Amino acid sequence: MKENIFAEIKNDIRSIIMPMLNMEIPLAVTETIEALWEDKRRPQIHAKKKIANGYTFTIALPAGVSFKDFYSKLDYFKDAAGGNNVQVDISQSGKMAILNISTDLLGDYFTYSADYPLKGILPIPIGYSKRGLEVIDLASLPHMLIGGTTGGGKSNAIHVIANSLLNLPEPPVIVLIDLKMSEYNYLENRVMLVTELETACQALDRLVQEMRKRQLLLKQSKFVNIGKYNAKCVTKLPYIVLIIDELAELKDKDAQEDLETLLRLCRSVGICNVAATQRPSSKIFTSKSFGDAKANFSGRLCYQVISNIDSRIILDSGEGALLPSIPGRAMWRNGRELIEIQTPYLDPEEVQQIEQFQTGGKAKGQQAYRNSNGVGRIGCKTNTTPTISIR
Ligand SMILES: Nc1ncnc2c1ncn2[C@@H]1O[C@H](COP(=O)(O)OP(=O)(O)OP(=O)(O)O)[C@@H](O)[C@H]1O
Ligand SMILES: [Mg+2]
Repeated sequence: MKENIFAEIKNDIRSIIMPMLNMEIPLAVTETIEALWEDKRRPQIHAKKKIANGYTFTIALPAGVSFKDFYSKLDYFKDAAGGNNVQVDISQSGKMAILNISTDLLGDYFTYSADYPLKGILPIPIGYSKRGLEVIDLASLPHMLIGGTTGGGKSNAIHVIANSLLNLPEPPVIVLIDLKMSEYNYLENRVMLVTELETACQALDRLVQEMRKRQLLLKQSKFVNIGKYNAKCVTKLPYIVLIIDELAELKDKDAQEDLETLLRLCRSVGICNVAATQRPSSKIFTSKSFGDAKANFSGRLCYQVISNIDSRIILDSGEGALLPSIPGRAMWRNGRELIEIQTPYLDPEEVQQIEQFQTGGKAKGQQAYRNSNGVGRIGCKTNTTPTISIR
């Protein structure tokens, strides 16, 4: 309750302060330049451009003021323009410095685009931070927990993850457990979609067997992990990604134990886990305290939650309760780094439409998932998806 009030106050302050800061930015920049440099060596504002939530200044640097000198004053501009309420970037363009000051620390809506750099083995565009688009490599995590109250964007994050992985040149096998049977039917031909508890138990059991088989294979072939194995061996092992939407629905002791085993032991064999839940309390897992299993999720995506306690359960810190009420706004923790991000929105209907167009139209038979520039499109089928049997 108390946390809720704080979150509301924080939002109100944001909405009052931001427009005021916007009006003050040009004055702050002029005054800072005048205070820092004397007349003869003073950088000159060559152009000022209003952008959505701030300004871009093109500043001519006189002889004797290098870009490095100008850049070293970034904190002065930041303090004068609003401190932590503004984002300040300085870049170089010839003899000009480009000073960008924005009060919109993060945009509140981004559409999913498959045009992102393919860094790592299982790259996913997780969201936009102050630094720009954050692309993570699921293979290097390799487990991710997604938490937050209803309507925050957890399932949307799963749409983003699944479609991004399916569009890769070498897509992993995806086992998607959706016991709420709500929203992933459009993927049923492309992932192993599991909507019943009994099948989910079989799938988890099968994955543990697959893990043991791979552990043995790596041991016999003397490779420490799948990465090293795939680099040297002709027949590659496909990565496997297990995604569970609403972990609390997995109400079977054996299935929970299998999941815990996977979380603990499958790091080196190329099996990754993504689990979403509204409230990952210790009661979710009956077999063991959730805290133990949770420690294996090195990636944590936390949408808005109602209490500091819920935020701590997901993130190990309270920021999730202070997030503004913006769909798709989340905190992302990767190891020790914790950042605020706006996750991209992916409309499953759009994926279906593209797929229908491709299978019905010209694209049939030549379904390139990425064009020659490395730019991908959402929802394209590939013929290369390896499979494992889960029944
Ligand atoms: N990244 C986003 N950007 C903009 N809007 C979003 C985003 N993610 C979700 N939304 C909006 O919020 C709605 C709810 O999202 P979603 O179904 O993903 O929530 P959820 O956390 O899975 O909720 P539940 O716990 O009830 O399943 C979506 O239908 C969409 O309108
Ligand atoms: Mg959901």
